[in-house]
Amino acid sequence: MEENVIKNYELMNDNEIDNTIRPETIEEYIGQKEVKENIQIFVKAAKMRNEPLDHVLLYGSPGLGKTTLAFIIAHELGSNIKTASGPSIEKSGDLAAILSSLEPGDVLFIDEIHRMPRYIEEILYPAMEDFSLDIIVGSEGNSRNIKIDLPPFTLVGATTRAGDLSSPLRDRFGIVSKLQFYTVEELTQIVKRTARVLNTTIDDDAAVELAKRSRGTPRIANRLLKRVRDFALVVGTGEITKEITEEALDRLKVDNMGLNDTDHQLLLAIINRFNGGPVGIEALSSSIGEEVTTVEDVYEPFLLQSGLLKRTARGRVATDKAYTALGIERSKK
Ligand SMILES: Nc1ncnc2c1ncn2[C@@H]1O[C@H](COP(=O)(O)OP(=O)(O)OP(=O)(O)O)[C@@H](O)[C@H]1O
Ligand SMILES: [Mg+2]
Repeated sequence: MEENVIKNYELMNDNEIDNTIRPETIEEYIGQKEVKENIQIFVKAAKMRNEPLDHVLLYGSPGLGKTTLAFIIAHELGSNIKTASGPSIEKSGDLAAILSSLEPGDVLFIDEIHRMPRYIEEILYPAMEDFSLDIIVGSEGNSRNIKIDLPPFTLVGATTRAGDLSSPLRDRFGIVSKLQFYTVEELTQIVKRTARVLNTTIDDDAAVELAKRSRGTPRIANRLLKRVRDFALVVGTGEITKEITEEALDRLKVDNMGLNDTDHQLLLAIINRFNGGPVGIEALSSSIGEEVTTVEDVYEPFLLQSGLLKRTARGRVATDKAYTALGIERSKK
């Protein structure tokens, strides 16, 4: 029996598991109440008018559920979804090919839309506004513009950096939704749901413990659940208890606020090397060997939201809460 469980698990890699645990309907999508309600209303209205849904821009930190929501939008519309990602669209012809393959009512999902080159972005403007594709055919000296009608479609764009989107592109989205970090309660529900899908038993207080340590992020909650599940299988009976969760998470160096190694390094750098701040983002990033964009997109948002970090006109500052959390006494300046 046990051997069987292990085998099945080994057959499934993390990506396959990801696909099985991704919620498919809007009811299964936990949290993000406001975003969800808005989308439900707009989807309903679009269906009643028999028109495509307005273009949707989803933004927020990694792992908060943008891709998941894009697929859910298509599901709720009863539409097919075609996917592309900003960096993979290298030539204007790539985008033209994608656009001309669309069927009426399709959802086109472009992930990391902020990474699309500007000259390619421009092809999207008439496509989004008038459902038309303007392309240049022929060679130099003998080229002409042709206009191709596209079927009505909905563009869903996702980005971790809404600020990097050009304003002409941003302005063409009728619906702009920001995804927030999840509460411990919401993450607890997500953990329990994932455990159910994975056929794993988890205690209530173990689920809460996992939720607390997940940085407000479903992807992290699911990832940690999978690791704790491995741990429970090998050292325990397979059932996930609070003790096992704590032990496993301590081993994974996730502290009880959900902060990971890099979060710690970042706060410690501000405190120890820059006397608590303020310190500019460039100096701070290079002192911990991370890219500025990674610090801004991946690490900072949660630290800001947790009240451990403050952004001031002169740079980043570690708050009193950060000192307390790290058990460091603030020296008098
Ligand atoms: N609201 C939710 N309810 C339940 N599970 C969720 C929810 N949001 C996300 N998840 C889970 O978290 C995982 C990560 O979500 P997703 O891939 O949609 O994030 P993302 O915002 O697209 O991340 P990235 O910026 O890295 O592309 C999904 O596999 C899904 O299982
Ligand atoms: Mg995604």
